[in-house]
Amino acid sequence: MERVVPTALDIPTGMVTMPDRVTISSAAPQSLKGMTCIEDLRRAARRRVPRVFFDYAEAGSYAEQTLRANRADLERITLKQRVLVDVSQLDTATTILGETVSLPVALAPIGLGGMQWADGEILACRAAQAAGIPYTMSTMSICSIEDVAEAVGKPFWFQLYVMKDRGFVRSLVERAAAARCSALVLTVDLQVLGQRHADVRNGLSVPPALKPRTILDIASRPGWTARMLTAKRWTFGNLAGHVKGADSVKAVADWVAHQFDAALNWSDVEWIRSLWPGKLIIKGILNVDDARAAGKAGADAIVVSNHGGRQLDGAPSTISMLPRIAEAVGSEVEVLFDGGVHSGQDVMRALALGARACLVGRAYVYGLGAGGEAGVATAIEILRKELSVTMALTGTRSVSEIDGRVLN
Ligand SMILES: Cc1cc2nc3c(=O)[nH]c(=O)nc-3n(C[C@H](O)[C@H](O)[C@H](O)COP(=O)(O)O)c2cc1C
Repeated sequence: MERVVPTALDIPTGMVTMPDRVTISSAAPQSLKGMTCIEDLRRAARRRVPRVFFDYAEAGSYAEQTLRANRADLERITLKQRVLVDVSQLDTATTILGETVSLPVALAPIGLGGMQWADGEILACRAAQAAGIPYTMSTMSICSIEDVAEAVGKPFWFQLYVMKDRGFVRSLVERAAAARCSALVLTVDLQVLGQRHADVRNGLSVPPALKPRTILDIASRPGWTARMLTAKRWTFGNLAGHVKGADSVKAVADWVAHQFDAALNWSDVEWIRSLWPGKLIIKGILNVDDARAAGKAGADAIVVSNHGGRQLDGAPSTISMLPRIAEAVGSEVEVLFDGGVHSGQDVMRALALGARACLVGRAYVYGLGAGGEAGVATAIEILRKELSVTMALTGTRSVSEIDGRVLN
């Protein structure tokens, strides 16, 4: 069977005729041949991306208890096998904030995407749009908002960190509006930075500091290096022009380190709400009280998230908190979910427990590091295929039918 490579004119609708027409095979570039699951992409990314950036993507904070809990708690949830249901026609499409998507999945905001693969943000956005799902651009991207807007055909979501320099925050919101971003994703769980040991050990900096160990590391990834030589940018694109001496890497790094604002509070959320007339998604909610407060502050959606286990180590897994949050606020705001989603089965589990859709972080970052745009497309198609097979084997024909009944 041939893999159908989506183009801008061939955006998947979500309708799948069983047996699934989407198989990752002959049309994929040689470097992605034989990759059938996210773990395959992860292994390839580990070989192709310099260690400093692979570790940055992979790691959780401190002892990584929350990182592990996200995956372990998902895996514990068992799905109910159903037989003799006609599932010859399936529909994986749904809507997120009124936008039709071919799959209940969006790409999560990821800092330093352009260090996984040259111009990574543009490539990931293109792959998401071709697949008919939202792409979220991080404040801490390498490409700028304008770089991505210019290179892609449709609106994307923009993720905002509120920094101490509120004038700069306002200008970011205005730039996102000028770029016609269709939603603002306000991340509220990073007012101080959880430590990732690997980043400290590796001396993570953007672009990489040229120490002997890093030079060796980069030299052993010639493909990555060759592509980087033609990349649009080497440092944080959204900050360029704002930080004095933004061409000096140290100036940018120092500015960022001092800009995260420990004073961030709900009145800032109200301020952002007043600046942004469009859809507002508050990301980083992990309990019912905060979920209710987000609704009150005017959020259209929340993301139940612990930042992929990268912030408060010791926090519960997101999937363990999802049901009570969805129950408490699901009728007021759309409840999105992230943390540990590595398969279509995981998407099914989260939807069964009350999520409208999942954001995926590492699952697509591995695809990006493994094969750029084609790698991200492969990651999305893997999730699509796994979800459609899982829907079939649980006797579920459409996303709207997914609820607690698909669980044991
Ligand atoms: C490499 C990496 C960079 C991230 N950068 C950001 C960021 O800039 N802004 C943000 O809101 N979340 C960021 N996150 C968190 C993700 O948006 C998302 O919450 C998390 O990755 C979900 O968990 P998962 O990776 O297990 O799917 C980042 C996560 C990773 C793995």
